Amino acid sequence: MSDTSSFRPLSAFEARAYAPATLGPLQLRNRIIKTATYEGMTPGGKPSQQLIDHHTQLAAGGVGMTTVAYGAVSARGRTFAEQLTVVPEVVPGLRRLTDAVHAHGARVSLQLGHCGGFSKDRTAPRPHPRGPSPGWNTYGLMQGLPRVHAMSLADIQQVIDDFATAARLAVDAGFDALELHLGHGYLLSQWLSPAVNRRTDAWGGDLDRRLRLPLAVVEAVRRAVGQDIALVAKTNLSDGFKGGLEVSEAIEIGRALERAGVDAILMSGGFVSKTPLYLLRGARPLRGMIAVEKHPLQKLAIATAGPFVMRTYPFEELFFLDQARKLRAALQLPLVLLGGIVSRQNLDQAMREGFDFVALGRALIAQPTLIQDFVAGTAGRSRCTHCNECMVEMDRNGVRCVLDDAEASPELENSD
Ligand SMILES: Cc1cc2nc3c(=O)[nH]c(=O)nc-3n(C[C@H](O)[C@H](O)[C@H](O)COP(=O)(O)O)c2cc1C
Repeated sequence: MSDTSSFRPLSAFEARAYAPATLGPLQLRNRIIKTATYEGMTPGGKPSQQLIDHHTQLAAGGVGMTTVAYGAVSARGRTFAEQLTVVPEVVPGLRRLTDAVHAHGARVSLQLGHCGGFSKDRTAPRPHPRGPSPGWNTYGLMQGLPRVHAMSLADIQQVIDDFATAARLAVDAGFDALELHLGHGYLLSQWLSPAVNRRTDAWGGDLDRRLRLPLAVVEAVRRAVGQDIALVAKTNLSDGFKGGLEVSEAIEIGRALERAGVDAILMSGGFVSKTPLYLLRGARPLRGMIAVEKHPLQKLAIATAGPFVMRTYPFEELFFLDQARKLRAALQLPLVLLGGIVSRQNLDQAMREGFDFVALGRALIAQPTLIQDFVAGTAGRSRCTHCNECMVEMDRNGVRCVLDDAEASPELENSD
């Protein structure tokens, strides 16, 4: 397909996307953020040279800010054992990463998360995993971690303290911004979800109670890092399954985060444990997922049950736009539009509709120089085909686009 959109004239709205912007206390060189996409480049939970190179390349490619994905705030907060864990030992490696990104004029954010009741990490202290309410941890069945244990009040306090400690370490490592992961079915998203948080104490029930832990985390992190660091929250517009969080509550969550002093909200959706493709859209890379799975029984489970339990959603450009508009209409604080942003036209529309920033994942994995290419007029659209094979690569040798492979024939099963 020929890429005619590169020849579009630059509209005032698109120009706004490429112009410097303020995010809380930060000045960004443009309004384009590389969103967190787990890199799979942290052997032993530590940052590698590969991780540094990955983000350096994105910074050199022209984004305003890149985001290091999922830093677990504690060993208990890891979904799997190799995940980056924000402890003092990783600070020097992360400092090399932030220095390298800064050398290219970009800002760098660290996503801080906790897995709650969604984990297959056998190395975490038992009982593991722990979430808002008891339930099943299907993700950890084969690892002998079938049950989710309800968090005690001491566990809750520990989580708040762990977020604050990790945030402080991130600042020591030179990060400009912190992104609190309140989405995708991780702990703080489990807490907000009426389907998953079934607590009957002061930490569950109506939305005010379900918001209590996420807000306590925001407050503790802000106290720990002060006002010079941008604090953003990645939230769900909807969980993507019946009984889960819907956009009406997402608006209220946005209002509460606005009052709590969050500098921007990055709007996403979906629950990795229940609706993994809702947050991505596009193809289901089952063949690759089976190939990289190490556990033989899990391999079999993906092969037999995968086609039935992993629902697919056709890819659409700007796939969260309809729901995001509702937050835009209700909130004053800066909002980051995300989901299927792949072209100059998409940037134009996001700015035209009043969003303050855009965040791109797969389009930049496929083409780290995309923003430079847009500005130079040498590309109008990312080459990404939303085959989602990058997800498989993340578990193989680190996230990357497979389109360069000589024999590349990404499986487009169930794609749009
Ligand atoms: C390989 C891969 C890894 C991802 N890892 C994370 C993650 O660690 N944290 C997160 O919040 N979202 C993660 N996501 C979701 C993205 O941040 C983003 O929400 C999603 O890809 C939709 O944006 P896009 O259409 O621009 O790719 C991941 C997505 C992909 C493709």
